Amino acid sequence: MLIDTHCHIDSESYENPEEVIKNMKNNIIVASAASPSSINEVIALTSKYENVYGTIGIHPEFASTYTENDLAMIESYLDHPKIIGIGEIGLDYHYGKDDSQLQKELFIKQIELANKYNKTIVIHTRDAALETYNIIKDYKNDSTKLILHCYSGSLEMAKDYIKLGAKLGIGGVLTFKNEKKLKEIVKELDLSNFVLETDSPYLTPEPYRGKKNEPMNVKFVAAKIAEIKGITIEKVAEITTQNSLFQFDLKL
Ligand code: NI
Repeated sequence: MLIDTHCHIDSESYENPEEVIKNMKNNIIVASAASPSSINEVIALTSKYENVYGTIGIHPEFASTYTENDLAMIESYLDHPKIIGIGEIGLDYHYGKDDSQLQKELFIKQIELANKYNKTIVIHTRDAALETYNIIKDYKNDSTKLILHCYSGSLEMAKDYIKLGAKLGIGGVLTFKNEKKLKEIVKELDLSNFVLETDSPYLTPEPYRGKKNEPMNVKFVAAKIAEIKGITIEKVAEITTQNSLFQFDLKL
């Protein structure tokens, strides 16, 4: 069994989410709400499909447009049995830092919600590595678990995050021919530190790079990790599934 710990399978991404969910039969999908408007849809998918769980949260790109109602709605769902985390949340300075103060405020508010409801946080960080790390370190409770979605930082920072109890989300980027840093991280660090993801519909792994991604392609990520570490795909599936279940406090 494989677990895709992070993907976007609502109707903003797919005309027919049912198809990509069916392709993941006997595996698990953790659907991440990509925008405040998709939260209700993620909740609906988790109710409809046994193998779909959800994380809900407000992405930093909505830092200047979200409402207190959006946050209240998220809080109201945090005791839902299939909502297993808050995310993706974090900081994104790729398009500038004009709203950095708002981004930080939104990030901290959601970490505090995760602390209050004992939910795992799923982090998005782009061009803001150190500030993201410092906020997590300062605001996260010791017992709040964390996943670095689509990890793209340095080996040193990965080690610092692991000290905070984090797991690193490894996705399709690992399979890209020119990607060296992430391959080095996967080689260096123990398999116990990784969870698999696709970030579908984005970041499609080889051999389908360029096409629309879907959760089933998580198997190509598993295969690449197996190749780099010189172990079987079955072993990668077994350990990363254990890691994901642990990190989301999920009992099947
Ligand atoms: Ni994502």
